[in-house]
Amino acid sequence: MVFSIQSDLGKGGRFAVRSLDGFGLKAGGLNVTGEMGGGEHARGERAGQVSAGGARAETYHVSVLADESLQVLAVNEGDVIFDGTLGGGGHSERLLQAGARVIACDRDPAALVYARERLAAYGDQFRAYHGNYDQMDRLLDEAGETNGVDGIILDLGISSKHVDDGARGFSFAKQGPLDMRMDTTADLTAEQMVNEEDEAELRRIFWEYGEERSARAVVRAIVKAREETRIETTGQLAALVESVIPRRGKRHPATKVFQALRIAVNDELGHLQRALEKTIVCLKPGGRLAIISFHSLEDRMVKRFLRQHSLAMLDRPEWPEPKVNPQCFFSLPMKKPYVPGAYELECNARSRSAKLRAAVRLGSEGVTKQNKNRYAK
Ligand SMILES: C[S@@+](CC[C@H](N)C(=O)[O-])C[C@H]1O[C@@H](n2cnc3c(N)ncnc32)[C@H](O)[C@@H]1O
Repeated sequence: MVFSIQSDLGKGGRFAVRSLDGFGLKAGGLNVTGEMGGGEHARGERAGQVSAGGARAETYHVSVLADESLQVLAVNEGDVIFDGTLGGGGHSERLLQAGARVIACDRDPAALVYARERLAAYGDQFRAYHGNYDQMDRLLDEAGETNGVDGIILDLGISSKHVDDGARGFSFAKQGPLDMRMDTTADLTAEQMVNEEDEAELRRIFWEYGEERSARAVVRAIVKAREETRIETTGQLAALVESVIPRRGKRHPATKVFQALRIAVNDELGHLQRALEKTIVCLKPGGRLAIISFHSLEDRMVKRFLRQHSLAMLDRPEWPEPKVNPQCFFSLPMKKPYVPGAYELECNARSRSAKLRAAVRLGSEGVTKQNKNRYAK
């Protein structure tokens, strides 16, 4: 089974075309890396974004790669889909319109309030929980979906609402408290991290999560400044970073530092790794996974995970022969991720770094009791 699915899908240059067919996609309506696309249908849907309740949703968040996500999830009437990043409810709404039942979660209580109201017209077809997507197994149990779901979508990171609301402290372009918590009930804020974390840990955070080459200089400036007074606002931190990294080009010098802090405060990579492992036990055989990432750290993690669990055979030079991969749980119907096409980029500049990767859960042979215990902690 593992072999037949993989060999059906993975033949050299025709891979992408076959995989599009495999998802029931029509060429031209989609954007595979390097191509441009987006049909008329896509334009109409995206331009309007009118919810069932009639509310215009684009002020909260414009869903990214919405058509592509819907198509890779290949929703049939009555399918159950887990949306682990509900946000403004845009992706969920498209899934509901396609006839799916949606179980959703978000760590941000404010997102739940907004999306529940937006999607109220769908009644029992939609259920939303306050929670973390790395708890998807528990949340699905709570929703009574104990046999797995037909699809999972994770649209990683923060919403436009987070960026645009200065009070949330995510943006160097808005004055506000240095908060950055997606979950406003959580304890740790960016303000605490900047003022109380030790020097070496701050350097690691800026270096690893921001890939900030001037991490050392930035941390020196922070440590010196916080000896005088607490760094409490986004404006203070942005100015401090700008004092050591001169402006070059369009990008604000504090971009990477803010990204790094946000990732650390919300433990984004830890949650993502745990969530990826949970998808193995939460998807039914044949179930589909769609993950949209917005920076290279996330995308690398997703790509590695999918590769590790989609190789039919494993090989090492010191082994006498290749071995069957006991953890081959997915087939990858497309080699390259989908990225936004010209039209989407024009309508929504914030979609520019998005990458959508997809996978299909293979037959049940991989889900042993042992693996369940291992992955569904
Ligand atoms: C990019 S937005 C999602 C937008 C949504 N797909 C839409 O179409 O409106 C990401 C959302 O995921 C939430 N989020 C991020 N990490 C999360 C996690 N580990 N668990 C649950 N929700 C998370 C954020 O609070 C944010 O609301």
